[in-house]
Amino acid sequence: MIPAKEMREFVLPRRMRGLQPTLIRQFFERALPDSINFGLGEPDLPTPQFLRDEAARISADEQNGYTSHPGLPALRDKIAEQYPHLNLPRTGVVVTCGSQEAMTDAFMCVVDEGDEVLLPDPSFPAYDACTRIAQGVPVYYKMPADGDFAFDISNFRSQITDRTKAAVVISPSNPTGKIMTEQNLRDIAAALDGTGIWLISDEIYSDLYFGERPHSASEFYEKTIIVSGLSKSLSMTGWRLGWAACKDAEVINAIQVLHGFNTVCTSTITQKASLIAWSDEAEAAKEHSRQIYKARGQFLVDLFEKEMGLHATSPEGAFYTMLDVRSLGDDIEVAERCLQNRVVTVPGVAFGQEAEGFLRISFCNTEEKMAEGVQRMKVALQL
Ligand SMILES: Cc1ncc(COP(=O)(O)O)c(C=O)c1O
Repeated sequence: MIPAKEMREFVLPRRMRGLQPTLIRQFFERALPDSINFGLGEPDLPTPQFLRDEAARISADEQNGYTSHPGLPALRDKIAEQYPHLNLPRTGVVVTCGSQEAMTDAFMCVVDEGDEVLLPDPSFPAYDACTRIAQGVPVYYKMPADGDFAFDISNFRSQITDRTKAAVVISPSNPTGKIMTEQNLRDIAAALDGTGIWLISDEIYSDLYFGERPHSASEFYEKTIIVSGLSKSLSMTGWRLGWAACKDAEVINAIQVLHGFNTVCTSTITQKASLIAWSDEAEAAKEHSRQIYKARGQFLVDLFEKEMGLHATSPEGAFYTMLDVRSLGDDIEVAERCLQNRVVTVPGVAFGQEAEGFLRISFCNTEEKMAEGVQRMKVALQL
C-alpha cells in the first residue's frame, strides 16, 4: 500500500516521450495576421457542392447512429473496387478517421518494440512519430536532394537489416511532390521479396497527379498496407474519411479491432455522403483539382526562378515543391525571415536531414496570393 500523501511522481509513458507537434504546425501557429500561407498542406479549393448538399440532406433526413466499426458495407465495397488488382473482399477494407488514423493503426498493428521501420528522408513527419508511438526505431533511406529527391534503390536496400519490420513509401510525396515510377516500386518489391517486411503505402495524394496516374505499391508487393482517403482529392480534410486496405486478413483484422477501440467509427454522415465520392461528378471534380494544382505548381516554380533566381523542384503530384535556399543559409532562419514578413513556409529540416537547405512550399493558394507571397519573400530575403 502506498501512503495517501506519498503520491509517486508521474512519468510520461516511454512511447510519448519527446513527441512534439511538427515544425509545420509550429511555424503555422506563429503566423502574423494577413500572412500568405505556403505552409500547410490543406486544399484551399471548396469541397464540391454536391457533397455538401448530400451531407446536409443526410443530417436533416436520416438518423445517424454508429456504423459497424469497419464502416458502411457499401462504402467498403466501393473502396475495395479502387484496387481491382487486389481483388479485395469487403473485409479487406477498414474505414478510418482520415488516412492519419489508418496510418497510426497500421504502425501499431505491425511494429513491435525495437523493430526498425524504413522511412523516406525527407518525408511526412508523422511516420517518425508513428514509429516511436509503436516503440519502433526509425531508420531513414535517402531520397537524395542532389537527385531532385528521386527514389534511389541502392540507398533503400542498404538500410534493410534483419530487424527491419516495415517500410514506408509515399507517392506522390509530401514534401517533394515527386512520384515513384513503376520501376521504383518494382525495385522495392524485389528488394523486399521473401523478407516478410511490411510495406505501408501512403496514397493520400494518389488522385492528385499531373502526368500519368501513379501506380500503387500494392500492384507489385503483396504485403502492402494501403493508407488513403478523400481529404486531399475532394477537399474534405475536416470530414475525416480515410481507409486502410490490405490483402492480409490477420493484419486488417487487427487494424479493425484497434480502430474500433480508438474511434468506434468515423462520422456516419461523412461515410454516407462519401458513397458518391467516385460518381461521375466526383471524378470530374478530381480532374478539375488536378488541372488547377498543376497550373499553380508550374506558375509558382517559374515565379521563383524569374523573381528570385531560385530553383524549385518540378511538382509531379500533390501540391508541394521544394525550394532550394541553400545559397541563402540555414533553412530554419530563412523560413523565420519569411515568417516575419508574413509568409508561412516550412523549413526542409522538418522532413529530414536530406531536405536541409530547402523550404517546403505548398501551392494551396490562388496565383494572385502566390505572386504576393513571392514578392514578400523577395523583400524578406533581400533578393
Ligand atoms: C503524407 C500525408 N499522409 C497523411 C495525411 C493525413 O491526411 P488525412 O488524415 O486528412 O487523410 C497527410 C495530411 O497532411 C499527409 O500529408
